[in-house]
Amino acid sequence: MINLIQTSQDHQLIIENKAYSLQGKISIPGDKSISHRALMLGAIASGKTIIKGLLLGEDPRSTAQCFQAMGAKISQLNSEEVIVTGIGEEGLQEPLNILDAGNSGTTMRLMLGLLASQPNKFFAVTGDDSLRSRPMSRVVQPLQQMGAIIYGRNTNKNAPLAVIGQNLKGIHYHSPIASAQVKSCILLAGLMTEGKTTVTEPALSRDHSERMLRAFGATLEIDVDTHSVTIEGKTKLYGQTVIVPGDISSAAFWLVAGAITPNSELTIENVGINPTRTGILEALMMMGADITLENKRETAGEPVADLKVKSSKLKACTIEGAIIPRLIDEIPILAVAACFAEGTTIIKDAEELRVKESDRLAVMATELNKMGANITELPDGLEIMGSVTLKGSEMDSYTDHRIAMSLAIAGLNAKGKTTINRAQAASISYPTFVKTLKYLTSHRD
Ligand code: S3P
Repeated sequence: MINLIQTSQDHQLIIENKAYSLQGKISIPGDKSISHRALMLGAIASGKTIIKGLLLGEDPRSTAQCFQAMGAKISQLNSEEVIVTGIGEEGLQEPLNILDAGNSGTTMRLMLGLLASQPNKFFAVTGDDSLRSRPMSRVVQPLQQMGAIIYGRNTNKNAPLAVIGQNLKGIHYHSPIASAQVKSCILLAGLMTEGKTTVTEPALSRDHSERMLRAFGATLEIDVDTHSVTIEGKTKLYGQTVIVPGDISSAAFWLVAGAITPNSELTIENVGINPTRTGILEALMMMGADITLENKRETAGEPVADLKVKSSKLKACTIEGAIIPRLIDEIPILAVAACFAEGTTIIKDAEELRVKESDRLAVMATELNKMGANITELPDGLEIMGSVTLKGSEMDSYTDHRIAMSLAIAGLNAKGKTTINRAQAASISYPTFVKTLKYLTSHRD
């Protein structure tokens, strides 16, 4: 039985294991990264942008509200087809109140690039408890090198932040981390800046901004060998039709669920398989998961496929180095897969997980160990002993969407009853998660 119960303060997800097998064909909500970018570029382009398949989660809603507060017209987010009437790159208006990015790091970091480059306009930006504790210096510092004026808490490291927009100057920024949020922030600031702005990163991070900026009319040079992107400033963007593929980060929960739950076979339709995001497929296949890609195609500049997964015996593996940015958001659910694999899985070079919506290394180790897992936290990763039998237990999402959903998949394969407190966090990126979970298990419920 699977039940989402509303308590006085939050939602508890209760999963009682009934030896489920997962069967069926599902589609998943739109890609979160692409949804944010479509709303932002639509807002600053000239003319109309039509977004099909927008993720109607809390995070894109935060982006939409911020840009509406600065004058962009965005149709109601009650259908996956949304129309944005752009106001031009220089048209963003000073908002009457503080911009609230909610729980969304992508909203805050990408938006800061645009705000910093709006001459003589004042903006104040904040977020929820989690976002206000996350590091913003990674974008504030390069923006300051470009001439930005930004003040914030803890010597400009944390939100709330105040921005006084300036005419910026182009720089070549060598980012110490492979982060698409940092890269995109600087590229968006560069869009408004005379001349060229270049970002070089140590490994390739997701490239949705580059693809979409080009589709909207920006001029970019990309050097794949050095992981460098250069944007030409002061080019005009024009509204486009954006078709958002399903989010591979959301598909990942079902890929792992299908692989570890006995007698399962499921198909996830219309999943984005941009190579900068497919680390999860490579990692699971390396572990012996039976995953096939069908009906490969390209939709509005992004590669897409249907993914079929069947249960299989998994084996441990080591995940480190350049693949990490390509599966950064999938490490919590990979940790669940590793509990069911034969041998010891090592995840390294993933210290970035400590500054996500929660400290995902600490939280996954703590919560899965409550279920009887054998996970040791490393400074930059996890060591996970496999072939354990998980037992149902009471756990917390720490209000982190990916933690809530990863623990739910663990609960599906644990003996007895699992309770996940503050499970409503899933709606940040996957508002229909529980509905799909119920659907996939319904024939045995
Ligand atoms: C994102 C980039 C990644 C990822 C986040 C979304 C984006 O963050 O974890 O969920 O849309 O650019 P970092 O840039 O901090 O790695």
